[in-house]
Amino acid sequence: MLITPNRQDLNKVVVVNPKGGCGKTTLSTNLAAYFAKRGPIPTIMDCDPQGSSMTWIERRPTTSAPIHGIAAYKRTMQATRSWQLRVPQETTNLVVDSPASLSHDDLREVTRDASSILVPVMPSSIDIHAASRCIADLLLVAKVDRRDRKLAVVANRTRKNTKSFAKLMRFLDSLGIPIIAVLRDSQNFVHAAEEGIGICEMQPYKVKKDMVELEKIIDWIDSWEERRFRTTEASIIEQVPNVVTYAKPGLSRN
Ligand SMILES: Nc1ncnc2c1ncn2[C@@H]1O[C@H](COP(=O)(O)OP(=O)(O)OP(=O)(O)O)[C@@H](O)[C@H]1O
Ligand SMILES: [Mg+2]
Repeated sequence: MLITPNRQDLNKVVVVNPKGGCGKTTLSTNLAAYFAKRGPIPTIMDCDPQGSSMTWIERRPTTSAPIHGIAAYKRTMQATRSWQLRVPQETTNLVVDSPASLSHDDLREVTRDASSILVPVMPSSIDIHAASRCIADLLLVAKVDRRDRKLAVVANRTRKNTKSFAKLMRFLDSLGIPIIAVLRDSQNFVHAAEEGIGICEMQPYKVKKDMVELEKIIDWIDSWEERRFRTTEASIIEQVPNVVTYAKPGLSRN
């Protein structure tokens, strides 16, 4: 389904959860708006036939920092698939907004080469159930290795002290997957979506609380190279004791 670019310097952030309405587009567009404001120009790849991210980009005021949009759900006869999906060279952050229903093949495809995978989850029992399935598929079907620290959850539209939220926390804790931010149920996200902007482009006093959480997500995303490096380093260290053990003369069978 998707051909994704193979660039070492590209941070591919995939927002995924087959559960409809959990906040994938809201998260994708707010991340893209933040990256746009900071520069260089980011890209949103919209894989959802509903085209919600593309509609949001089209709504964007001309005065706002630009964002490239790729309508990956469209098939054109005029261009090759790889040409259609090419990410502009200037982009260092690519945000992939995925659709509500995703086959196993598409899940594998969309998460391939991802440096960060974000799963927005709302804290109702139905959503938590769907999220557990989604995370299981990411680990077992898409073969995302938890030790790679690519996977994180964003709790969305939540009130911290609910029972279901505690349940979600326990579940993720048992899997060792971090919840990197907790976004409130806030009209700020609704208004931003309507105007084609991100909350980072609204008046700061209105979005102070929401920005604190959004910046936690940005910090985690920005640590992608560090996370990748730490994983490589950890796997090297893990291998060393074996090398040392087998090198010990007393342990040799010969
Ligand atoms: N934190 C929030 N506070 C208030 N409203 C929110 C929040 N997050 C999302 N919404 C609203 O919930 C609705 C669904 O969100 P969104 O479109 O981002 O979900 P989605 O996962 O992309 O849905 P779909 O699966 O249909 O693509 C939208 O109307 C959006 O404005
Ligand atoms: Mg969406």
